Amino acid sequence: MTRIAVYMTGGIAVYKAVQVVRDLEKNGHEVRVVMTKNAEHFVTSNTLAALTKYPVLDDLWSKENEASIPHVHLARWSELALVVPATANFIAKMANGLADDAASTTILATAAPKMIVPAMNDQMWNNPATRHNVLFLKENGVKIMDPAVGMLAESYAAKGRMPEPADVVDWVEKYLNQKNSLQGKIFVITAGGTEESIDPVRFIGNRSSGKMGFALAENAARLGATVKLIYGNVTANPPQNKNIKMYHATSSEDMFEQVKSEFKKSDVLIMAAAVADWRMPKVADHKLKKQIGQETLNLTLIKTKDILQEVAHHKKHNQLVIGFAAETNDLLENAEKKLKKKGADMIVANDVSHNVFGNDYDQVTLLTQDGHIDKWPRMSKQEIAYGLIEKIARELK
Ligand code: CTP
Repeated sequence: MTRIAVYMTGGIAVYKAVQVVRDLEKNGHEVRVVMTKNAEHFVTSNTLAALTKYPVLDDLWSKENEASIPHVHLARWSELALVVPATANFIAKMANGLADDAASTTILATAAPKMIVPAMNDQMWNNPATRHNVLFLKENGVKIMDPAVGMLAESYAAKGRMPEPADVVDWVEKYLNQKNSLQGKIFVITAGGTEESIDPVRFIGNRSSGKMGFALAENAARLGATVKLIYGNVTANPPQNKNIKMYHATSSEDMFEQVKSEFKKSDVLIMAAAVADWRMPKVADHKLKKQIGQETLNLTLIKTKDILQEVAHHKKHNQLVIGFAAETNDLLENAEKKLKKKGADMIVANDVSHNVFGNDYDQVTLLTQDGHIDKWPRMSKQEIAYGLIEKIARELK
């Protein structure tokens, strides 16, 4: 049983959302409803109040709500926020943090996972502003159901229609089943790039932004895992989740020590960090000065430890180790070599020759020890992270 707040916003598809509420209750969930004033043009709040046996929240300023601050209460009470149907306007409000009525204020105030079922005209769905808002919400972990293709209220067929209530309920149930699938599991995830100091001022670094590692950490935490996120030099915003504990590592040696120590008590290691392969044998204790007449500088570097390889070779049979392969050429050939040499259970190969660092999108190919190769289409890093974590969750089962 899950405590679900259903947010209904003003589109003709509200009538289908009534069935969604009924079916969720039939499945044993406790449902409370929040409606916008526009939604009430299509279905009355009385219908929903009678179905849920609880007053519908549609007005922050009504007399009976004066003392109880119902939106804060509902925001805290709910374990899932489901917006059905979601209009382009409500999606825009969510993406921009607007709170000008009961529904938008409550959803802004809730920490519950959010799922939305858009329903609108195809022009609105394809409008660049809606595309931008949908992408922003997806990037921030909101689950968005793809609208169905079919007859719209405008009497022509296109993409934008709300999927059938049974499909919406299946989608929600599938998510709820997964939600705690990593409960009790401990993940060590690395992100960003390491820094190898040359002297107190300079270091050797790389272009990793940390986006992929952060997205993996967020998605693992959302499915209930405890995540130890060991991050180096990053430009992306770190995730905010109570299940994620952050550890900063500067150099590859520092990262190695932290990974080794945390992995002993863990189930999964994902090495998404870009670890330096070379370092100074000894870091200068003063700033290296240019000498008069000096035109070149030679630095002799020594190899760093391969964290992935060391950990994979000493892992227990019930621990999973996943690495990445960043390649600019001969992707599969190089990734296969890395899979064999490093002994990881899986390598996620990506071509980094074109604008991958800091980008929101990527295209990856998964290689596993059984020789399986799975090429995924280009998608957002959040979607890749979600897919990878889901795959790992199935593997752990
Ligand atoms: N890795 C690691 N320790 C290192 C270097 C890399 O743990 N010293 C990990 C990375 O985190 C990644 C995988 O190994 O998961 C592959 O990293 P990549 O940079 O693609 O390859 P390298 O092993 O560094 O090999 P090369 O530079 O020759 O491509």
